[in-house]
Amino acid sequence: MLVLGIESSCDETGIALYDTQHGLRAHALYSQVKMHEEYGGVVPELASRDHIRRAIPLLQQVLDESGAQRDDIDAIAYTQGPGLAGALLVGSSVACGLGLALDKPVLGVHHLEGHLLSPLLASEPPEFPFIALLVSGGHTQLMRVDGVGRYEMLGETLDDAAGEAFDKSAKLLDLGYPGGPAISRMAEFGDPTAYTLPRPMLHSKNLDFSFSGLKTAVLTVVKNHGDANICEQDKANIARGFVDAIVDVLTAKCMTALKQTGLKRLVIAGGVGANRQLRESLNAAAAKRHYKVYYPELEFCTDNGAMIAFAGAMRLQIDPTLAQKDYAFNVKPRWPLDSLTAP
Ligand code: KG4
Ligand code: ZN
Repeated sequence: MLVLGIESSCDETGIALYDTQHGLRAHALYSQVKMHEEYGGVVPELASRDHIRRAIPLLQQVLDESGAQRDDIDAIAYTQGPGLAGALLVGSSVACGLGLALDKPVLGVHHLEGHLLSPLLASEPPEFPFIALLVSGGHTQLMRVDGVGRYEMLGETLDDAAGEAFDKSAKLLDLGYPGGPAISRMAEFGDPTAYTLPRPMLHSKNLDFSFSGLKTAVLTVVKNHGDANICEQDKANIARGFVDAIVDVLTAKCMTALKQTGLKRLVIAGGVGANRQLRESLNAAAAKRHYKVYYPELEFCTDNGAMIAFAGAMRLQIDPTLAQKDYAFNVKPRWPLDSLTAP
């Protein structure tokens, strides 16, 4: 079965073709980061307009690269939510329009299920069950995953998401948008003893997170410099203090989740999963306790079409009737992951 995946929930247009027999045939991505950079964050209206411009040329690129014809596509999976309503509407209407024109069935996919299952695209995929840490720009969740659609929420952020904390702290340090990769690179040159920032909820008994206090701590340090420009070394020191704090909390909560559930496999998904310091910390903590950590390929950590094609294909392999020739779509900008059911 050949599944076309369409992702357009935020600022990346992703298109991919996943073959249930031969794996990923081709994928293409267009990132709008440059366009949103000058505004310091994603401008939803501009994002939607750009998805419209990119979707069809990317589809053609994927078809050309894979050598497949439009008519070879068996089903079309598109991100139905959560995300920016206008941006989701673009991907959904392209998917449904294409489905109608080609007489192919369509299936709405949950964006976070795409992230969650993306490590299964790697060469050494984890087996179910596992603990998943979902760390993206909009979400920070610890889940127990027993199979496709079998997700139990163990803990989540009470305020800012991890990616949001990275982005907001980077903005305070004037490091541009998106801030995650920038603040991470800066932290490499920082002195770990210069600033010890708070580790919110590190010792709370539950598996919830809170990161707004950490962001406020960065703000306080920046304000304490008054009007004086912060020198590059001091920025690196603050970045280091921030990264160490957030990595400590994420690592500790993952270890607690594994211990509490008795599971041995940990899967990291979402954009922050690309973070080098987080990977090093998780690998070290897991190795000590004989757990194994799985990551998506770096290119599939952040938003992409491959994870949507793959998540759609996983569901369709279990129940092919999930894809329908019903092209009256609706999008779900807010859509809790644990409301999904197994196919
Ligand atoms: O999963 P994703 O591409 O989009 C959402 O669904 O939100 O995640 C984007 C987030 C942004 O907040 C970005 O700053 C963060 O992931 N990010 C990183 C890194 N690469 C991306 N954060 C820390 N270190 C990185 N290397
Ligand atoms: Zn995402």
